[in-house]
Amino acid sequence: MQKGLISAQKACFEAKSRLVRVGKRVEDRAMTSESFSVRKLTPTIGAKIDGIDLSQPLTDKDLARIRDALIDNLVIFFRDQNLTPAQHKALGRRFGDLHIHPAPLGILDGDAEIILVQTDENSRRIAGEVWHSDVSCDVNPPMASILHIMEVPPVGGDTLFANMYAAYEDLSISMRNFLAGLTAIHDGRRNYDGRQTAPSREAEYPRAEHPVVRTHPITGRNALFVNRMFTTRIVQLKEAESIALLEMLYRHIERPEFQCRFRWQPNSVAFWDNRCAQHQALWDYFPNRRYGHRVTIAGDRPFYRS
Ligand code: SIN
Repeated sequence: MQKGLISAQKACFEAKSRLVRVGKRVEDRAMTSESFSVRKLTPTIGAKIDGIDLSQPLTDKDLARIRDALIDNLVIFFRDQNLTPAQHKALGRRFGDLHIHPAPLGILDGDAEIILVQTDENSRRIAGEVWHSDVSCDVNPPMASILHIMEVPPVGGDTLFANMYAAYEDLSISMRNFLAGLTAIHDGRRNYDGRQTAPSREAEYPRAEHPVVRTHPITGRNALFVNRMFTTRIVQLKEAESIALLEMLYRHIERPEFQCRFRWQPNSVAFWDNRCAQHQALWDYFPNRRYGHRVTIAGDRPFYRS
């Protein structure tokens, strides 16, 4: 009887210690995830975040810190993230509804919320090879994008990101005044034509008119919002004037001092704000493979406020 009582007490004690140990592990994990570090890559754009596992549901505190890091740095990078497609989408959904790409591009297993970013020895072009803000031809272009690259070439395949606030703020006051109030056409046909996966289908491409200078809805700062991939024409100017001004702005936007360059490793993640950053993927690794998934977060209609 006494012996039975002792072993019951012992079992109870062991169970309690196990609970304490599990509790400690959970606590350690929470502390680690809530104390992740954010390190700037350049003074102008980009930061690396260490110490968080994006496959796990984000706490509200982590969500707020990641959102702040994105707002402050325009693009944030993470290493060693093993994300399933479902975890990748769940991560995106913490920041907003997911955006469905309007052009019939490669998607993962019929899931329109995951765009395939893949290049190999048979590729004739790659996604995002020209400076752009994702799908700016949509009336409501995506707010942000989260790219998870799983397979990288032995060398090359970096992505460049550029700060459109900095590009705008570097213009003369006279040029800023001239651009205020101008709008431009962003046409999906310019980029997507010929890329549809079902060639017999008559593809319809989105087209939208947006302010040339866009006010960020959270920071209230103004940023240049024209890009080589989608912008075809400044509405208020004659054609020759529009061509000349857009070319001047594109060259200005592409200056290296507004940029950072990200070197991918397998399972890196880049998370960028399309409202104030542009990016360009480099295709310097043919015929090697590069493979990943992109989840895109829906956004609002661009506006300009002086
Ligand atoms: C994209 O424009 O989303 C692709 C960027 C990349 O592959 O680095």
